[in-house]
Amino acid sequence: MSRAGIDAIEIWTGKLQLDLPRTFAPVKGSDPQKYLKGIGIEYSSLPDVYEDIVTMGANAAKQLLDKEELAPADIGRIDVATESSFDNSKPVSTYIAGCLESVYESNFTHANKGERKFACLSGTQAIDDAYNWIQAGRHRGKPALVIATDTALYERGDPGEATQGAGAIAMLIDEDPDIVSISHSQGYGSADETDFLKPNQQFPSVDGKRSVQVYLARMREALADYESVAGKTHPDAFAAVPFHTPFPGMVRKAALLGYRHTIRNTDIEDDLASDIGTQPRRNEFDSNSEFDAEMRTYMDGLKQTEAYQEWYADRIEPTIQFARQVGNWYTGSVHIARYSALHSAATAGDSLSGEQLLVGSYGSGAEAEIHVETVQPNWKSAIESVTFAESLASRYDLSFEEYERIHDVHNAQKETEVEPFTNPDGEFIFTGWGRMNERRYEYRPRQSGNAS
Ligand code: CAA
Repeated sequence: MSRAGIDAIEIWTGKLQLDLPRTFAPVKGSDPQKYLKGIGIEYSSLPDVYEDIVTMGANAAKQLLDKEELAPADIGRIDVATESSFDNSKPVSTYIAGCLESVYESNFTHANKGERKFACLSGTQAIDDAYNWIQAGRHRGKPALVIATDTALYERGDPGEATQGAGAIAMLIDEDPDIVSISHSQGYGSADETDFLKPNQQFPSVDGKRSVQVYLARMREALADYESVAGKTHPDAFAAVPFHTPFPGMVRKAALLGYRHTIRNTDIEDDLASDIGTQPRRNEFDSNSEFDAEMRTYMDGLKQTEAYQEWYADRIEPTIQFARQVGNWYTGSVHIARYSALHSAATAGDSLSGEQLLVGSYGSGAEAEIHVETVQPNWKSAIESVTFAESLASRYDLSFEEYERIHDVHNAQKETEVEPFTNPDGEFIFTGWGRMNERRYEYRPRQSGNAS
């Protein structure tokens, strides 16, 4: 079996930002620390008037193709992962392919295209499909283009409003990848749940508190399932543990649970025993409630230990740096978390080649997937070539009243005319609807004088 995985990436953020502690909190009458510390998001990325899942996906993909000096003829398949689709039949990948074909000489006629759906998990599932296609030898030597693109908007006033985000990540999946290779082994935790869903509606129905518990339960099952095929995991075996990040506070909960699970019966559990005891085992208790209470006490102690806090600072904190700046990107979130960890290591000058990442993806409804990735020798230059930090810094900062207007613009139930806050410059834009109610796009060339 050949090595296959992520060869190159590019990222496109929605061009507007909402400052949660300084703009959102005062209007909501809430403490800014709720967003900075509790939820963990400082800014949400939001799309400008002329942006949507197609423009953001096509813009990320164009940056990727240009950087890699590739054209449509070089790509074997395009899979788009999204939970913000606007068409139940025509896949978003066809719209994105159409955009790209308008600016390149070759086309994607030969390329298989699809749209993957399983809430936020589908970005990872699309990579999986590309991985399997390569391993089956059906790819004719060509890479796959996987694009995770979402406008993660909630109903105004929904508790999820503080976790919104919008952006796209385009990933080239290939043999002998430059960034990470993907393990053959995987673990799943899957169950029929109604925690977060969009039954033919734009904004989600969310049972927020329950969704947190469902995330943790499925993630725990996926880890146990992964270990059943790949053997016991140890927390120090991984340079970073990128999780799906609806908001960093969620990852804080998942990380503690994952750490507790992976230190069981290890030297770390033994070393901590004199301080916080050993982990309670279910068979030592007469009732679930006694066991749960004892486990809560153990977890409270574990969270305070130096061992856990160091592990969290090294292995988890670097994965959530960009989520703090952009909010939830649904299908792209776990891929932003991986990028965040690698970007942080590159900036710190760490040597990661050959190191492993434990990647935890999640989709409501619900399913978690866990696999391992191995960082490749060329990872650093591939990560340093991504231009995400610059585009983040140039987002337009919305006032609350502007935020209300842009939310209405992207609300399919409302008809609102608003002037764009930014100028399109060397990018695809949404221009309106065609005769069959299809969405229409065009490319706006870069203004002369701006860097290419
Ligand atoms: N200072 C410091 N921390 C504070 C604070 C303050 N002043 N005020 C509140 N906090 C803390 C709270 O203690 C809490 O932390 P803990 O859970 O660790 O105790 C945190 O900030 C959030 O506060 P609340 O629980 O009061 O926040 P909320 O009820 O307004 O919203 C939520 C939380 C229900 C999860 C909401 O954000 C939501 O519905 N989000 C959408 C659903 C979601 O993201 N679910 C995650 C799992 S599902 C998934 O992953 C799929 C997906 O992408 C959607």
